[in-house]
Order: sequence, then structure tokens, then C-alpha cells
Amino acid sequence: MKELEDAIKNKGQVLPGNILKVNSFLNHQIDPTLMYEIGKEFVKRFADDNITKVITVESSGIAPAVMTGLVLGVPVIFARKKKPSTLNDAAYSADVYSYTKQKTNRIFIEKKFISPNDNVLIIDDFLANGEATKGMIKIVKAAQAHLVGVGIVIEKSFQPGADWITNHGIHLESLARIASLNDNEVTFKKD
Ligand code: G4P
Ligand code: NA
Ligand code: NA
Repeated sequence: MKELEDAIKNKGQVLPGNILKVNSFLNHQIDPTLMYEIGKEFVKRFADDNITKVITVESSGIAPAVMTGLVLGVPVIFARKKKPSTLNDAAYSADVYSYTKQKTNRIFIEKKFISPNDNVLIIDDFLANGEATKGMIKIVKAAQAHLVGVGIVIEKSFQPGADWITNHGIHLESLARIASLNDNEVTFKKD
């Protein structure tokens, strides 16, 4: 997606450890116009899938997920990283290990928000090792809902998450695919 690649090129910053900082439009300050374009693009790429729910994980997945839900006219659920005191036992959960932060978070979605009749689209801001995505897939399966696919804003194609998803026969759409962050430079993957 051209507008997204331009934003990454012009506003992104490569940090040590193969980390791309995009906190001026995605991870801290949010560019709502770009997020809306991102939502429309996901809807285009998953047309005909009759999506009934969009799910993501707090916090940075929420902006692109909400825009996708807005365009589709369907609810958006964000998995919580802490079990809210108001959440009773009727919740699906999954453990998500973060390599960047070297810690495990348990994520929670209340059971009543996903049913076997749902066609679920998973959205996230980044795909690196794929741990967050795997956690959400586990929850969709536990709910016996139908997984339509996974929509990612920025895929780090040199990390194992993307291959894991496609090798499992899951429809993956990434709006920007990064081949490398070597030498402080963003190189996009050619189609
Ligand atoms: P994974 O989810 O794909 O397995 O990735 P990993 O464990 O490595 O990443 C942990 C967190 O770091 C995730 O956010 C993920 O989105 C984010 N992340 C991974 N690579 C990058 C990167 O190059 N740049 C940025 N900005 N973030 C990256 P999180 O902990 O869930 O935090 P939140 O921002 O969603 O609250
Ligand atoms: Na993040
Ligand atoms: Na995220």
C-alpha cells in the first residue's frame, strides 16, 4: 500500500535490534486519515468473506481494527492483556510470549463476544514472530468460530510469523512487507 510505505519511509525510524519505530502515525500518535485508508484496504482485500467480527490485541492494533470494523459495519473486539476485574470466568485466554519484551502476557476475550456463527478477521499493527496472532487464532478456534484470515499493517517478512501463518493455509494480507531493516534502512519486499 503506497501511502503506508511512504509514511514508513518518511516518518519511520530504524532502531537497534531490527525494530521499526512508527510512533508518529501508528504506535503513539495516530494518523486517522491513514488509518481509515488502511481500514478500507483491508476490507477490499477480504471482500466476499462475509466478516462478522474483527478482533485484535490492545493497544496498537485497535486503531486499524476499528477503522476496518467501521468500513465493514461490524463490531471490533480487542483482547485485553490484563484480566479486567469486571470480567468473570467466561473468557477465552491465550498466552502470548513477546520476544521483544521477553515476557509472557495472557490475553483475554469475553466468551459472549465470539460465537460459532462468526466469521472473524484478525487485525494487528505488526507481525514479527507471530506470537500475538497465534494467541488470537487459538481463541478463535476455542470459540469454534470461522477464521477468515489475518490482516497486518506492517509485516517484518524476515521474522518467522508470516511464513507460519501462510504455511498453515491461513489467508494473510500485509499492507507493508519489510524485507530488511539492515544498515538503518527500510527495504520493502518486492511482490
Ligand atoms: P509478535 O507479536 O509478532 O510475536 O512479535 P513480538 O513478540 O516480537 O512483539 C512484541 C510487541 O512488539 C508487539 O506489540 C509487536 O506488535 C511489537 N513489535 C514487534 N516488532 C516491532 C517493530 O519493529 N516495531 C514496533 N513498533 N513494534 C514491534 P505489543 O507488545 O503487543 O504492544 P502494543 O504496542 O500493541 O501495545
Ligand atoms: Na505493538
Ligand atoms: Na500489536
